[in-house]
Amino acid sequence: MTTAAFTPRVFSGIQPSGGLTLGNYLGALKRFVEMQDAGTHETIYCLVDLHAITVWQDPAKLAHNTRELAAAFIACGIDPERSILFNQSQVPEHAQLGWIFNCVARMGWMGRMTQWKDKAGKNAENASLGLFGYPALMAADILVYHATHVPVGEDQKQHLELTRDIAAKFNHDYGTDFFPLTEPVIEGVATRVMSLRDGSKKMSKSDPSDMSRINMTDNADAIAQKIRKARTDPEPLPDNEAALEGRPEARNLVNIYAALSEQELPTVLAEVGGKPFSEFKPMLADLAVAKLSPISGEMARLMKDTAEIDRILSRGAERARGVAAPIIDRTYEIVGLVR
Ligand code: AMP
Ligand code: TRP
Repeated sequence: MTTAAFTPRVFSGIQPSGGLTLGNYLGALKRFVEMQDAGTHETIYCLVDLHAITVWQDPAKLAHNTRELAAAFIACGIDPERSILFNQSQVPEHAQLGWIFNCVARMGWMGRMTQWKDKAGKNAENASLGLFGYPALMAADILVYHATHVPVGEDQKQHLELTRDIAAKFNHDYGTDFFPLTEPVIEGVATRVMSLRDGSKKMSKSDPSDMSRINMTDNADAIAQKIRKARTDPEPLPDNEAALEGRPEARNLVNIYAALSEQELPTVLAEVGGKPFSEFKPMLADLAVAKLSPISGEMARLMKDTAEIDRILSRGAERARGVAAPIIDRTYEIVGLVR
């Protein structure tokens, strides 16, 4: 069923696997806040700790990273009153629906996921079963709330198509229209922020080079240094988008500038066109520091009171269960599981 018949509801998640980057901020967090502030949808945001453990996580670090990610959400502007903010493992309905979807999804579908192929690599025999089934749990995260819209970066597009396939197969197999066909929301200039060292690679917390990314916890000096050393080409910046063709590093830095300053790309190019990188990079560094420093400062402040963070997450989990529990009840009934 299309989403029209359902309450407008946004769901998205980020893994608490440590080290949030500028890519996570521009591709995900910043947009989560915009969708909350627009007030057109209910907004539910989740720290997906059950997804994080599909690869090894040190237990003490996982707990720390979960609280730090909660602090990042709040520091970026997620208001735990207006949005529901919680960690996945406190809401057992995710795992309950995840199991049912393990029985709906097909092995072949999972095997075709590029993220699975990238993460498991040549050593698939030794990857966890959870890593293989990851997208079925992701579909459950979304559909256990009948979410209609999911804001994510470009890299999650395939997983969201699979979520629609799972909803459609469930609806078809059980002769129902219970689950919506959720719409991905992949919009803006920063849906794929690239590495500062290689314009053909995504900026990622797992890149071995720390110089390839800006971390949300980097201080002003580190941010300025990484931008100063970012790879570029020798030409000055162009004044039109077509001339960015074949210049992935230039395009990436200009996109970051546009996203941070909340301007359209043509407006930015009109401003910076003709400038050499030696002039543009300090402008970008100043802007990045001005936008990111208040967030990292606020994160550090929030992390001084982790008991308060835990209270926020527990309260969020309670509210999330209020939405998810009736959907699980009805799903069990449809499947014929006696309660
Ligand atoms: P992850 O850290 O993999 O859990 O990703 C959390 C969110 O950030 C997802 O919506 C991703 O699509 C988004 N994201 C991660 N890296 C980038 C990037 N380099 N550019 C844009 N979005 C990203
Ligand atoms: N797979 C997403 C990522 O790696 C995280 C995620 C898990 C997610 N469940 C989700 C994102 C549900 C959106 C909706 O970035």
